[in-house]
Amino acid sequence: MTTRNQAFTILQQHIHDRFLINHHLSSEIVMRAFAKHWKEDEELWGICGLLHDLDWEYTKANPSEHTKKAAEILRAEGVEEEIIHAVQAHHPTASGVWPSNIMEECLYTTEELTGLIIACALVQPDKKLASVSEQSVLKKLKNLNFAKGVNRDIVGRAPEVLGMSMEDIIKISLKAMQDISNELGL
Ligand SMILES: [Fe+2]
Repeated sequence: MTTRNQAFTILQQHIHDRFLINHHLSSEIVMRAFAKHWKEDEELWGICGLLHDLDWEYTKANPSEHTKKAAEILRAEGVEEEIIHAVQAHHPTASGVWPSNIMEECLYTTEELTGLIIACALVQPDKKLASVSEQSVLKKLKNLNFAKGVNRDIVGRAPEVLGMSMEDIIKISLKAMQDISNELGL
């Protein structure tokens, strides 16, 4: 299987913006945390998170192409179809591929949540993830004027598709991101 190092090398060839690298690292660590929680394959889940927006710098002006270019790149790199399918399923409106298993649902819903958690950190006086509480993330999730780019419909389906309360989903995600706060510079 594609190793984490190989995946990170591919990511760095196509994503150069530091904020975007952080978004991928956040998604990776959150996916790892959920895989660990359910005793699933942490490497596989983590790599899906690490690669999911691989083509964003090429497709941001044309979101209807998002994940299509990523699939091409990953296929050329010999990355497993299971990973490519998960990458495509996190943006079904462009790819036409919908999440079809718990790993794909987890990627689809939690990568959106990581954006909200980072926005919550950035409004803290010290801009640190350590200052963010689960309750504040939950509150800001309900405040539609906060971090308007975060799609509440996608985050909102998480409890049903993951079979877990929103409080627990936020708890696991926030803790995972806090664990790599130095790496994220937050
Ligand atoms: Fe993303």
